[in-house]
Order: sequence, then structure tokens, then C-alpha cells
Amino acid sequence: MQVSATKCKPLNLTILEQTLEDSMFSGRLIYEKSLDSTNRLAKSLCEKGAAEGTVVVAEHQSAGRGRMGRAWLAEPSTNLLFSVVLRPGLGMERLFLVNAVGALAIADAVAQKTSLHVGIKWPNDIYVGRAKLAGILSEFSMKSPRLEYVIVGIGLNVHWSPPQLDPPADHATSILKETGRHVCRTDLLSSLLLIMERYYLRLKQGDAAGILEAYKKRSIVLGKRIMVFLEEQGLGCMAVDIEDNGTLRVITEKGKEIRLRWGDVSLRL
Ligand code: BTN
Repeated sequence: MQVSATKCKPLNLTILEQTLEDSMFSGRLIYEKSLDSTNRLAKSLCEKGAAEGTVVVAEHQSAGRGRMGRAWLAEPSTNLLFSVVLRPGLGMERLFLVNAVGALAIADAVAQKTSLHVGIKWPNDIYVGRAKLAGILSEFSMKSPRLEYVIVGIGLNVHWSPPQLDPPADHATSILKETGRHVCRTDLLSSLLLIMERYYLRLKQGDAAGILEAYKKRSIVLGKRIMVFLEEQGLGCMAVDIEDNGTLRVITEKGKEIRLRWGDVSLRL
């Protein structure tokens, strides 16, 4: 559906602050009209001791960063661009599930506000059908042996998606493009953060198995034939399982099992 992203209102900070009042994000919202990158600011605040629950939100980024050194683009005030500071105090082996908490929150919040079927493409891209709706750029620091902080940087295409540049590759979409409807970004962001808090507290309280199970239910990769790219070589495989440290287990066409570490590999549906 061709739709325009004109007349998007800025986020309503008063409503955001009110709805997040009893949460870990209360009083910790940093809102900017324009920034280079919310992850960059969140990281510099973390280095100065920013509290867990700090959220940096921007209407626009001049140098938004995506995974694998790519840029992340969005027209001003159309999408959600924000970074959440977490201090889980968990070991490195939990980093995957900390990010999974972000992916689950995006998927649940979008599913709650729309009729879309939202899935997670390993490790933490959010898809509607075969198109990418949202992505997570996670940055972290270790204070041995634990994670000192994790910045979960989220870009969610609400009203605008970048033009398709490379047809055979996965392309981008937005909620507006998929539904033809303008959802309220303020409402979507507050719901997403509240859902994220619930998953995050469960993880901190030790329910890694429950988070992994929720993640697997949302997976659009498990049980499917996928193309795995290892050093630019494509390999057709069947995705059979995901472990709690994020390892994806696949079986090649020759019947060999391979364990893929997240971060090292890209894959195509
Ligand atoms: C991806 O490549 O899929 C991850 C994209 C993450 C983009 C978000 S937008 C808010 C935050 N700030 C950034 O510079 N990047 C993340």
C-alpha cells in the first residue's frame, strides 16, 4: 500500500512521563528533537554513570547506526528511535536474552496495537512477512565477569520506511505501509517500554527459560529453510533450535549440524 508519512506529530513527552510513572523508566527519559545517534548519547551517559532505565529518544538522527556498520535512516518524527540503558548484572552468556527482551517487547507492542503478525528473525530483527519492520543495535560494556551495561538501541518503522534499494535482499516496511493506519507513536512507545520492563524483570529474576520460550514462539526462522551467509558464502540449511546463549543450530543439506554464534553470521529467509 502506498501511503504518505506527512503530518506526523512529535512525541507527547507529558503523556509518556505519566504512563511510565510507576516503571523503571520513571524520570529517566531524555528527549531530543535531533541527535546524531541515540545509542551514541546513551553510551556517553553510561560512561558517566547513567542509571538503569535511562531512555534516550530522538525525533531525528543525523547519523543513526544499524548493525554491521550500516546506517539507520528515518524521516523526522515518523518512526521510533530510542536507546534503553540496562544494567542487568548478569554474565556475558545472557547478552542474547537481554536483547531478546527488546525484540519481544517490539513484537508484542506492535501486535497489541495492530492486527499484524509480527515475528523475530534471528537474532533480533523484527519482521512482518518478509519485510523488516524494526531492528536492534545493542552495545555493551563488561566489568568482569558481568555486563556493566547494555544499551538496547531500537529503530521501529512506524510511518516511514526507507526506499527499497536492492530487490533480492530483505526489504523494509512500516506499520503505516502494512496497515494503512497511523498508530500513535507516544502510545506505542509507552506500551513497548512497559512490556520490555516486564520481560526484563523476569529475566533478572532468573526466568531465562521463559524468555527463551517466548522468543522461540515469535521466531520466523525455527523449523524453516534459510540461507546462512558465512564469509559471503551462502549455505542452504534448516534451522532446528536456538540455545539460551543465542546459538542457532542448523542442519545443512548434507545433514551436517552447524552451531552459529549470533553476531558472526547473517541469514536470509
Ligand atoms: C539494525 O541494523 O537492524 C539495527 C538498527 C538500530 C537502529 C536504532 S535507531 C535508535 C538507535 N540509535 C542508533 O544509532 N541506532 C539504534
